[in-house]
Amino acid sequence: MHDFLIAPSILSADFARLGDDVAAVLDAGTDVVHFDVMDNHYVPNLTIGPMVCKALKKYLDSNGYSAPIDVHLMVSPVDSLIADFAAAGATYITFHPEASDHVDRSLQLIRSLGCKAGLVFNPATPLHYLDYVMDKLDVILLMSVNPGFGGQSFIPGTLDKLRQARQCIDDSGLDIRLEIDGGVKVDNIREIAAAGADMFVAGSAIFNQPDYQAVVEQMREQLAS
Ligand code: DX5
Ligand code: ZN
Repeated sequence: MHDFLIAPSILSADFARLGDDVAAVLDAGTDVVHFDVMDNHYVPNLTIGPMVCKALKKYLDSNGYSAPIDVHLMVSPVDSLIADFAAAGATYITFHPEASDHVDRSLQLIRSLGCKAGLVFNPATPLHYLDYVMDKLDVILLMSVNPGFGGQSFIPGTLDKLRQARQCIDDSGLDIRLEIDGGVKVDNIREIAAAGADMFVAGSAIFNQPDYQAVVEQMREQLAS
């Protein structure tokens, strides 16, 4: 594991050979498998659920991969899926606070099932949802695109929001990851890190390249510079 975690979003993977493609991207030096769950209700797209997570986890385990699975729930309601993803091998489970009627309860539920818990903020969602739940968070995920699709452009205003979230985390003294999701590329990852992120979701930037290792190395070089 690195201090900066690179989390390939499997939304851009080859679903016809998902296990092999995820193994390849882990072999290329990435750290965390970012698993995007969309329900065609909270977001206008439909992806994959707990059965695929369970199958992928089994495949990774049986091939010697121990990378955490980071389940990003873009669904409403959220609670009914949390137990299923915990049972399917999720390490992190994050959800959008507007999608849960009881944010505190959903966060507690995630941790009670042995997973790491996080809140996800859309570009226009204010950070005040953090006010009373910082002690129940393992990760804060800021969306730098509107959720629903891979391959969109990074929204620049997210950098300021990252700085605010970083300040909240540092002020809290808690061990909370700051994750960024959407439009992360080799040419912007450095300034995103400088704004405070330490966990980087990248889908199209990695999977749309023929040589995963080359992209991941370029990202690491940017993060080290
Ligand atoms: C968007 C998803 C992202 C997305 C990232 O709703 O949450 O994880 O797939 O894709 P890129 O890196 O292509 O913006
Ligand atoms: Zn995501």
